[in-house]
Amino acid sequence: MRTLQLDLADRGYPIHIGSGLLSEPALYRPYIRGRRVVVISDSHVAALYGEQVCAALTDFDPRLLTFAAGEPSKSLDTYALLADQLIAGRFDRRVTLVALGGGVVGDMTGFLAATFQRGVDFIQVPTTLLAQVDSSVGGKTGVNRPGGKNLLGAFYQPRCVLVDTATLATLPRRELVAGLAEVIKYGLIADEPFLTWLEQALPALLGGDETALQQAIYRSCEIKATIVAADERESGQRALLNLGHTFGHAIEAATGYSAWLHGEAVGLGMLMAAALSQRLGRLPAADCARVAAVLKRAGLPTRLPGDIDTATLLGFMAGDKKVLDGELRLVALDAIGRGVIVSGVAPTLLADVINAAHASETA
Ligand code: NAD
Ligand code: GLY
Repeated sequence: MRTLQLDLADRGYPIHIGSGLLSEPALYRPYIRGRRVVVISDSHVAALYGEQVCAALTDFDPRLLTFAAGEPSKSLDTYALLADQLIAGRFDRRVTLVALGGGVVGDMTGFLAATFQRGVDFIQVPTTLLAQVDSSVGGKTGVNRPGGKNLLGAFYQPRCVLVDTATLATLPRRELVAGLAEVIKYGLIADEPFLTWLEQALPALLGGDETALQQAIYRSCEIKATIVAADERESGQRALLNLGHTFGHAIEAATGYSAWLHGEAVGLGMLMAAALSQRLGRLPAADCARVAAVLKRAGLPTRLPGDIDTATLLGFMAGDKKVLDGELRLVALDAIGRGVIVSGVAPTLLADVINAAHASETA
């Protein structure tokens, strides 16, 4: 097992990465203050790992609450159903919530933890690659609304993160590929040598090689922890972690949160961000082609289907959380490994980038 620390003064926490961790009682115990634990999971993950996690938590009379798997469940309706079960079960503010699942479970459970009894402890046990490299770390929690992604939420840090890479053995390949988008993101915004390593490690990662996956997860979490420790509330550099997300969130919202996986939408969004960077004269064409090539080799979509129209995407992008005083800010690339925040991009230029993503295989 390897451990990283997210340094946030009195709210810092460890990120443990290894195989078989979710069955280890000693890894949970130091982070549970009260006598009761509630494990929250979705229908797929609860069936696979719910029993093992509850067995590791028998000292805390664990209760397992579940909801239907999938992004449409990341909603106020699910939040209310879970909250009502906590209230009916008379759980008090010493309860610890354990988020067992992907980013949907982690974001929902974190938001519930932030708000139930004005805040209770929670532990992240991420089981998708995407959640292990991104959503379980850094304390962004929340739910979607029909008008936009993650528009209701809170910054609320877990007490610890247990990344059990053995869980990736059951993850469907499409989900593994979607998680790779966020791994590639770290190389693009902050670490060109990591991207070079990823380019050669892709066959091992796609083949489920646990050693390669642990290495990718460790470096991804290390980059994220450094950025979050410096800018927890996203007043500056943390926005770099949203490379491709403004385009991606718009694709997700425009398709009702059901057709595209988050990582797939972010992958195509990163390609659009690279194309934008090229058009802004920031990124050489060869680097833009490198971004397209790595995404394509990872198996991510590189073309926007015709039924997602440009005006609809621009509408959702205008409602993004990175809009400040009416001005949209976007993450671009100055080089591979160097993200930059840009504002004042002309809507016509954005429309050109979206139209190009419709038209070509490589944007
Ligand atoms: P997800 O939680 O929907 O999980 C994907 C699917 O995989 C689900 O069907 C789930 O049941 C299944 N699954 C999970 N683990 C499994 C396993 N080990 N074996 C078999 N099946 C398994 O999706 P996700 O991609 O993990 O997360 C996407 C969400 O994360 C989005 O809502 C996104 O907005 C959010 N996110 C949040 C942050 C953040 O900082 N909070 C960062 C990135 C993404
Ligand atoms: N996933 C973006 C962030 O955590 O800031």
